[in-house]
Amino acid sequence: MSDVKLAPSILAADFARLGQQVAEAAQAGADRIHVDVMDGHFVPNLSMGPAIVQSLRRVTDLPLETHLMVTDPDLFLDEFSAAGSDSLLVHYEGNANLHRTVQRIRTLGKRAGVVINPATPAAVLEEIVQDVDQVLVMTVNPGFGHQQFIGTTLPKIRRVRELIERLKPGCEVEVDGGIDAATAPLVVRAGATAGSAIFGDRDGIAAAMQRLRTAVSHVEDEAQLAGRSAR
Ligand code: DX5
Ligand code: ZN
Repeated sequence: MSDVKLAPSILAADFARLGQQVAEAAQAGADRIHVDVMDGHFVPNLSMGPAIVQSLRRVTDLPLETHLMVTDPDLFLDEFSAAGSDSLLVHYEGNANLHRTVQRIRTLGKRAGVVINPATPAAVLEEIVQDVDQVLVMTVNPGFGHQQFIGTTLPKIRRVRELIERLKPGCEVEVDGGIDAATAPLVVRAGATAGSAIFGDRDGIAAAMQRLRTAVSHVEDEAQLAGRSAR
């Protein structure tokens, strides 16, 4: 059983066949489904709302993680929670009351995560990491799929991992954007345990999952040889 979790983002899915595609990802061993919510303000793109989560909830048992790229996430927490989101990931940027937002997510009984953009330093997590289950490090600027991985995020992933080991061991480090067979081993080496990619791959969902699993398994083997877990 791998320590590395894969959370395919449905942003690249074929929405006319969404249920079928998610079933395919589940069959291929996806650990959860990443739902990208964009409001056209926080990021220059529009995507999906709670109705998609509600529909997916009926057809999959996989955890649905909801990445809220919206100006005021507080407005939507209850609705996504009711629709069936298992975790709610909110950005550090632009949130004047992040602690309140995180507490609200916890009150709703959901897993809480904080997301940091490429230009945001790891140190901002210091006072919030104790309250969350997961940190999501953006490895591209949020807003679009199929962007190129930003290499300068690698040392930051390492710093996030160190901060978590010190303050909240067990909190998960996830990465988002530009993750493929070439970049996945790099982020796993840097300390990430989850990533999103997969849908929209030319070779199909199962092949893309397999390619990523194979790419990170080498890192896990190295880590085992070195006598530690691949975190
Ligand atoms: C970017 C989204 C990502 C995106 C990743 O704003 O948050 O989840 O879907 O897409 P890829 O894997 O194509 O970079
Ligand atoms: Zn995302």
